[in-house]
Amino acid sequence: MKEKIINELKTNIGTYVSGEQLSRKFNVSRMAINKNITKLREEGYHIEAVSQKGYMLIEDREVYNAFEIGYDNKNEIIGRNILFFSEIDSTNNYLKSYASQYEDVEDGLVVISDIQNDGRGRMGRRWDSQAGKGIWMSILLKPSLLPYKVQIVTLGAAVAVVRALEKAFSLQAGIKWPNDIILNEKKVCGILTEMSAELDRVNYVVLGIGINVNHIKEDFEEQLREKAISLKEAMGVEEDINRVKLVQILLSELEGIYRCIKNEEYISIINEWKKYSITLGRDLVITKGEEASYGKAIDILDDGRLVVEFNDGHIEEIMSGEITVRGIMGYA
Ligand code: BTN
Repeated sequence: MKEKIINELKTNIGTYVSGEQLSRKFNVSRMAINKNITKLREEGYHIEAVSQKGYMLIEDREVYNAFEIGYDNKNEIIGRNILFFSEIDSTNNYLKSYASQYEDVEDGLVVISDIQNDGRGRMGRRWDSQAGKGIWMSILLKPSLLPYKVQIVTLGAAVAVVRALEKAFSLQAGIKWPNDIILNEKKVCGILTEMSAELDRVNYVVLGIGINVNHIKEDFEEQLREKAISLKEAMGVEEDINRVKLVQILLSELEGIYRCIKNEEYISIINEWKKYSITLGRDLVITKGEEASYGKAIDILDDGRLVVEFNDGHIEEIMSGEITVRGIMGYA
Protein backbone atom coordinates (compact mmCIF):
# COMPACT_ATOMS: atom_id res chain seq x y z
CA MET A 1 0.00 0.00 0.00
CA LYS A 2 2.79 2.40 0.95
CA GLU A 3 4.40 1.97 -2.46
CA LYS A 4 1.10 2.44 -4.26
CA ILE A 5 0.51 5.70 -2.42
CA ILE A 6 3.97 7.07 -3.05
CA ASN A 7 3.70 6.02 -6.68
CA GLU A 8 0.45 7.96 -6.99
CA LEU A 9 1.97 11.03 -5.35
CA LYS A 10 4.98 10.79 -7.66
CA THR A 11 2.86 10.62 -10.79
CA ASN A 12 0.98 13.69 -9.55
CA ILE A 13 4.09 15.58 -8.55
CA GLY A 14 3.43 19.30 -7.98
CA THR A 15 -0.29 18.79 -7.28
CA TYR A 16 -2.37 17.73 -4.29
CA VAL A 17 -4.03 14.35 -4.21
CA SER A 18 -6.90 14.13 -1.76
CA GLY A 19 -7.18 11.42 0.87
CA GLU A 20 -10.56 10.55 -0.56
CA GLN A 21 -9.13 10.06 -4.06
CA LEU A 22 -6.44 7.77 -2.64
CA SER A 23 -8.84 5.73 -0.54
CA ARG A 24 -11.22 5.30 -3.50
CA LYS A 25 -8.42 4.37 -5.89
CA PHE A 26 -6.90 1.76 -3.60
CA ASN A 27 -10.13 0.66 -2.01
CA VAL A 28 -9.01 1.21 1.58
CA SER A 29 -10.24 3.45 4.39
CA ARG A 30 -9.11 7.05 4.88
CA MET A 31 -7.64 5.86 8.15
CA ALA A 32 -5.44 3.35 6.30
CA ILE A 33 -4.27 6.10 3.96
CA ASN A 34 -3.43 8.29 6.96
CA LYS A 35 -1.46 5.52 8.62
CA ASN A 36 0.55 4.88 5.48
CA ILE A 37 1.27 8.57 5.00
CA THR A 38 2.64 8.62 8.56
CA LYS A 39 4.85 5.60 7.80
CA LEU A 40 6.09 7.19 4.59
CA ARG A 41 7.01 10.36 6.47
CA GLU A 42 8.89 8.29 9.04
CA GLU A 43 10.84 6.75 6.17
CA GLY A 44 11.96 10.21 5.12
CA TYR A 45 9.41 11.28 2.52
CA HIS A 46 8.46 14.93 2.68
CA ILE A 47 4.69 14.87 2.21
CA GLU A 48 2.79 18.08 2.68
CA ALA A 49 -0.82 17.86 3.85
CA VAL A 50 -3.29 20.72 3.39
CA SER A 51 -6.88 20.41 4.54
CA GLN A 52 -9.44 20.49 1.73
CA LYS A 53 -6.66 19.78 -0.77
CA GLY A 54 -4.88 16.61 0.29
CA TYR A 55 -1.31 15.39 0.07
CA MET A 56 1.56 16.54 -2.06
CA LEU A 57 5.01 14.98 -2.33
CA ILE A 58 7.88 17.46 -2.13
CA GLU A 59 11.01 15.97 -3.66
CA ASP A 60 13.55 18.05 -1.79
CA ARG A 61 15.39 15.33 0.12
CA GLU A 62 16.97 12.00 -0.48
CA VAL A 63 14.91 8.96 0.33
CA TYR A 64 17.33 6.08 -0.05
CA ASN A 65 15.39 2.86 -0.48
CA ALA A 66 14.73 0.10 -3.03
CA PHE A 67 11.55 1.69 -4.34
CA GLU A 68 13.21 5.03 -5.13
CA ILE A 69 16.31 3.44 -6.64
CA GLY A 70 14.29 1.03 -8.77
CA TYR A 71 11.74 3.66 -9.81
CA ASP A 72 11.51 3.83 -13.59
CA ASN A 73 14.31 1.29 -14.03
CA LYS A 74 14.19 0.21 -17.67
CA ASN A 75 17.07 -2.26 -17.49
CA GLU A 76 16.46 -5.77 -18.71
CA ILE A 77 18.89 -7.40 -16.30
CA ILE A 78 20.61 -5.16 -13.78
CA GLY A 79 18.46 -4.15 -10.82
CA ARG A 80 15.13 -5.61 -11.92
CA ASN A 81 15.07 -6.58 -8.29
CA ILE A 82 16.77 -4.57 -5.59
CA LEU A 83 17.18 -5.65 -1.99
CA PHE A 84 17.75 -2.74 0.34
CA PHE A 85 19.03 -2.86 3.92
CA SER A 86 19.57 -0.04 6.33
CA GLU A 87 22.34 -2.10 7.92
CA ILE A 88 24.15 -5.29 6.92
CA ASP A 89 27.58 -6.89 7.46
CA SER A 90 28.61 -6.68 3.81
CA THR A 91 26.54 -6.61 0.64
CA ASN A 92 29.11 -8.90 -1.01
CA ASN A 93 28.80 -11.41 1.84
CA TYR A 94 25.03 -11.30 1.62
CA LEU A 95 24.95 -12.05 -2.10
CA LYS A 96 27.60 -14.74 -1.87
CA SER A 97 25.69 -16.64 0.78
CA TYR A 98 22.38 -16.05 -1.04
CA ALA A 99 23.80 -17.34 -4.33
CA SER A 100 25.36 -20.36 -2.69
CA GLN A 101 21.98 -21.34 -1.20
CA TYR A 102 19.77 -20.72 -4.24
CA GLU A 103 21.10 -21.97 -7.51
CA ASP A 104 18.41 -20.16 -9.50
CA VAL A 105 19.29 -16.74 -8.04
CA GLU A 106 18.53 -14.17 -10.71
CA ASP A 107 21.14 -12.57 -12.90
CA GLY A 108 21.37 -8.85 -12.11
CA LEU A 109 20.05 -8.96 -8.53
CA VAL A 110 21.21 -5.85 -6.66
CA VAL A 111 21.82 -5.51 -2.93
CA ILE A 112 22.35 -2.09 -1.37
CA SER A 113 22.84 -1.10 2.24
CA ASP A 114 23.09 2.29 3.91
CA ILE A 115 25.59 0.90 6.43
CA GLN A 116 27.98 -2.04 6.25
CA ASN A 117 29.31 -3.20 9.60
CA ASP A 118 31.92 -5.39 8.01
CA GLY A 119 32.48 -3.81 4.59
CA ARG A 120 35.35 -5.52 2.82
CA GLY A 121 37.96 -4.14 0.45
CA ARG A 122 40.56 -5.88 -1.69
CA MET A 123 43.53 -7.66 -0.12
CA GLY A 124 41.52 -8.45 3.02
CA ARG A 125 41.23 -4.78 3.93
CA ARG A 126 38.28 -3.19 5.69
CA TRP A 127 36.00 -0.87 3.72
CA ASP A 128 34.63 1.93 5.81
CA SER A 129 30.89 2.12 5.09
CA GLN A 130 29.13 4.65 7.31
CA ALA A 131 25.45 5.67 7.14
CA GLY A 132 24.54 8.32 4.60
CA LYS A 133 28.10 8.60 3.36
CA GLY A 134 28.28 6.37 0.36
CA ILE A 135 26.95 3.83 -2.05
CA TRP A 136 27.62 0.31 -0.83
CA MET A 137 26.25 -2.02 -3.43
CA SER A 138 26.73 -5.52 -4.83
CA ILE A 139 25.38 -7.06 -8.00
CA LEU A 140 24.97 -10.75 -8.70
CA LEU A 141 26.00 -11.62 -12.25
CA LYS A 142 25.95 -14.86 -14.15
CA PRO A 143 28.08 -14.23 -17.23
CA SER A 144 29.00 -17.12 -19.47
CA LEU A 145 32.71 -16.50 -19.13
CA LEU A 146 35.67 -18.72 -18.54
CA PRO A 147 37.01 -18.07 -15.03
CA TYR A 148 40.24 -16.52 -16.31
CA LYS A 149 38.24 -13.90 -18.22
CA VAL A 150 36.25 -12.65 -15.24
CA GLN A 151 38.54 -9.67 -14.83
CA ILE A 152 36.63 -8.06 -17.73
CA VAL A 153 33.68 -7.66 -15.33
CA THR A 154 35.81 -5.57 -12.96
CA LEU A 155 37.28 -3.50 -15.79
CA GLY A 156 33.80 -2.97 -17.24
CA ALA A 157 32.42 -1.95 -13.86
CA ALA A 158 35.19 0.64 -13.51
CA VAL A 159 34.26 2.03 -16.94
CA ALA A 160 30.60 2.16 -15.89
CA VAL A 161 31.47 4.12 -12.72
CA VAL A 162 33.54 6.66 -14.70
CA ARG A 163 30.73 7.09 -17.21
CA ALA A 164 28.16 7.52 -14.42
CA LEU A 165 30.24 10.19 -12.65
CA GLU A 166 30.56 12.06 -15.94
CA LYS A 167 26.83 11.79 -16.67
CA ALA A 168 25.64 12.66 -13.18
CA PHE A 169 28.10 15.39 -12.22
CA SER A 170 30.32 16.11 -15.28
CA LEU A 171 33.27 14.74 -13.29
CA GLN A 172 36.23 13.31 -15.18
CA ALA A 173 37.51 10.41 -13.12
CA GLY A 174 40.44 8.15 -13.93
CA ILE A 175 40.97 4.43 -13.42
CA LYS A 176 43.96 3.02 -11.57
CA TRP A 177 44.48 -0.62 -12.52
CA PRO A 178 42.55 -2.70 -12.05
CA ASN A 179 39.66 -1.15 -10.20
CA ASP A 180 40.25 2.06 -8.29
CA ILE A 181 38.40 5.13 -9.46
CA ILE A 182 40.41 8.27 -8.91
CA LEU A 183 39.41 11.93 -8.61
CA ASN A 184 41.88 14.68 -7.76
CA GLU A 185 44.57 12.00 -7.40
CA LYS A 186 42.61 10.26 -4.63
CA LYS A 187 40.42 7.18 -4.50
CA VAL A 188 36.68 7.81 -4.69
CA CYS A 189 35.51 4.29 -5.48
CA GLY A 190 36.71 0.72 -5.09
CA ILE A 191 35.47 -2.48 -6.67
CA LEU A 192 35.65 -5.95 -5.16
CA THR A 193 34.79 -8.77 -7.53
CA GLU A 194 34.37 -12.25 -6.09
CA MET A 195 33.30 -15.39 -7.87
CA SER A 196 32.31 -18.98 -7.52
CA ALA A 197 33.63 -21.08 -10.37
CA GLU A 198 34.48 -24.55 -11.56
CA LEU A 199 37.54 -25.14 -13.70
CA ASP A 200 35.74 -24.37 -16.93
CA ARG A 201 32.78 -22.24 -15.93
CA VAL A 202 31.74 -19.40 -13.69
CA ASN A 203 28.77 -20.13 -11.43
CA TYR A 204 28.30 -16.53 -10.41
CA VAL A 205 30.15 -13.28 -9.87
CA VAL A 206 29.50 -10.86 -7.03
CA LEU A 207 30.44 -7.37 -8.16
CA GLY A 208 30.82 -5.09 -5.13
CA ILE A 209 31.08 -1.36 -5.66
CA GLY A 210 31.80 1.18 -2.94
CA ILE A 211 31.60 4.89 -3.76
CA ASN A 212 32.55 7.59 -1.26
CA VAL A 213 29.81 10.19 -1.68
CA ASN A 214 29.21 12.45 1.30
CA HIS A 215 32.32 12.23 3.47
CA ILE A 216 34.02 15.30 4.71
CA LYS A 217 37.73 14.92 5.35
CA GLU A 218 37.28 14.07 9.04
CA ASP A 219 34.94 11.18 8.19
CA PHE A 220 37.88 9.26 6.74
CA GLU A 221 40.22 7.49 9.13
CA GLU A 222 43.40 9.49 9.54
CA GLN A 223 45.63 7.19 7.50
CA LEU A 224 43.17 7.39 4.59
CA ARG A 225 42.87 11.15 4.41
CA GLU A 226 45.74 11.55 1.95
CA LYS A 227 44.44 8.72 -0.20
CA ALA A 228 40.65 8.90 -0.20
CA ILE A 229 38.13 11.47 -1.37
CA SER A 230 34.35 11.73 -1.60
CA LEU A 231 32.27 13.19 -4.41
CA LYS A 232 31.14 15.94 -2.07
CA GLU A 233 34.75 16.93 -1.41
CA ALA A 234 35.73 16.63 -5.07
CA MET A 235 32.86 18.89 -6.10
CA GLY A 236 33.48 21.31 -3.24
CA VAL A 237 29.82 21.46 -2.24
CA GLU A 238 28.33 22.02 1.21
CA GLU A 239 25.14 20.04 0.92
CA ASP A 240 24.94 16.25 0.73
CA ILE A 241 24.72 14.64 -2.66
CA ASN A 242 21.63 12.61 -3.48
CA ARG A 243 22.71 9.00 -3.95
CA VAL A 244 19.53 7.77 -5.62
CA LYS A 245 20.12 9.45 -8.97
CA LEU A 246 23.74 8.27 -9.07
CA VAL A 247 22.82 4.65 -8.35
CA GLN A 248 20.16 4.79 -11.07
CA ILE A 249 22.62 6.13 -13.64
CA LEU A 250 25.24 3.60 -12.57
CA LEU A 251 22.81 0.68 -12.89
CA SER A 252 21.95 1.78 -16.39
CA GLU A 253 25.65 2.08 -17.35
CA LEU A 254 26.29 -1.36 -15.85
CA GLU A 255 23.47 -2.74 -17.96
CA GLY A 256 25.21 -1.43 -21.11
CA ILE A 257 28.54 -2.91 -20.04
CA TYR A 258 26.95 -6.25 -19.16
CA ARG A 259 25.36 -6.37 -22.59
CA CYS A 260 28.84 -5.84 -24.14
CA ILE A 261 30.21 -8.68 -21.99
CA LYS A 262 27.38 -10.98 -23.05
CA ASN A 263 28.09 -10.08 -26.69
CA GLU A 264 31.81 -10.72 -26.13
CA GLU A 265 32.65 -7.13 -27.07
CA TYR A 266 35.60 -7.12 -24.71
CA ILE A 267 37.75 -4.92 -26.91
CA SER A 268 35.36 -1.98 -26.71
CA ILE A 269 35.46 -2.21 -22.88
CA ILE A 270 39.26 -2.46 -22.84
CA ASN A 271 39.58 0.50 -25.20
CA GLU A 272 37.36 2.65 -23.04
CA TRP A 273 39.23 1.50 -19.93
CA LYS A 274 42.49 2.55 -21.63
CA LYS A 275 41.00 5.95 -22.40
CA TYR A 276 40.32 6.54 -18.70
CA SER A 277 43.46 4.84 -17.44
CA ILE A 278 45.84 6.74 -15.22
CA THR A 279 48.08 3.69 -14.99
CA LEU A 280 49.29 3.21 -18.53
CA GLY A 281 52.53 5.02 -19.29
CA ARG A 282 53.09 5.89 -15.63
CA ASP A 283 55.91 4.98 -13.25
CA LEU A 284 54.80 2.25 -10.87
CA VAL A 285 55.84 0.38 -7.79
CA ILE A 286 54.72 -3.23 -7.98
CA THR A 287 54.43 -4.95 -4.63
CA LYS A 288 54.43 -8.73 -4.35
CA GLY A 289 54.37 -9.83 -0.74
CA GLU A 290 57.19 -7.94 0.94
CA GLU A 291 59.03 -7.27 -2.30
CA ALA A 292 58.76 -4.00 -4.25
CA SER A 293 59.96 -3.53 -7.83
CA TYR A 294 59.79 -0.54 -10.15
CA GLY A 295 58.59 -0.20 -13.73
CA LYS A 296 56.14 1.32 -16.17
CA ALA A 297 52.73 0.04 -17.30
CA ILE A 298 52.80 -0.32 -21.07
CA ASP A 299 49.54 -2.08 -21.92
CA ILE A 300 46.50 -3.95 -20.69
CA LEU A 301 45.43 -7.26 -22.25
CA ASP A 302 41.84 -8.19 -22.94
CA ASP A 303 41.74 -10.58 -20.00
CA GLY A 304 42.70 -7.63 -17.79
CA ARG A 305 46.37 -8.41 -17.21
CA LEU A 306 48.61 -5.38 -16.96
CA VAL A 307 51.80 -5.44 -19.05
CA VAL A 308 54.66 -3.92 -17.09
CA GLU A 309 58.14 -3.11 -18.30
CA PHE A 310 60.39 -3.28 -15.25
CA ASN A 311 63.33 -0.93 -14.83
CA ASP A 312 65.75 -3.79 -15.54
CA GLY A 313 64.17 -4.14 -19.00
CA HIS A 314 62.18 -7.35 -18.55
CA ILE A 315 58.46 -7.39 -19.31
CA GLU A 316 55.81 -9.16 -17.24
CA GLU A 317 52.06 -9.56 -17.39
CA ILE A 318 50.52 -8.98 -13.98
CA MET A 319 47.21 -10.56 -13.09
CA SER A 320 46.52 -9.18 -9.67
CA GLY A 321 48.32 -7.56 -6.82
CA GLU A 322 49.16 -4.15 -5.60
CA ILE A 323 50.56 -1.36 -7.68
CA THR A 324 51.28 2.19 -6.67
CA VAL A 325 51.23 4.89 -9.30
CA ARG A 326 53.63 7.78 -8.85
CA GLY A 327 51.69 10.97 -8.13
CA ILE A 328 48.49 9.17 -7.12
CA MET A 329 46.98 8.48 -3.68
CA GLY A 330 49.69 10.13 -1.65
CA TYR A 331 52.64 8.48 -3.37
CA ALA A 332 55.19 11.08 -4.44
C1 BTN B 1 38.66 -1.94 -2.71
O1 BTN B 1 39.37 -2.36 -1.81
O2 BTN B 1 39.03 -1.03 -3.44
C2 BTN B 1 37.30 -2.55 -2.96
C3 BTN B 1 36.23 -1.95 -2.10
C4 BTN B 1 34.85 -2.54 -2.35
C5 BTN B 1 33.82 -2.05 -1.37
C6 BTN B 1 32.45 -2.53 -1.72
S1 BTN B 1 31.18 -1.73 -0.81
C7 BTN B 1 30.00 -2.86 -1.38
C8 BTN B 1 30.66 -4.22 -1.41
N1 BTN B 1 30.53 -4.90 -0.15
C9 BTN B 1 31.71 -5.06 0.45
O3 BTN B 1 31.89 -5.59 1.57
N2 BTN B 1 32.70 -4.54 -0.31
C10 BTN B 1 32.18 -4.01 -1.55
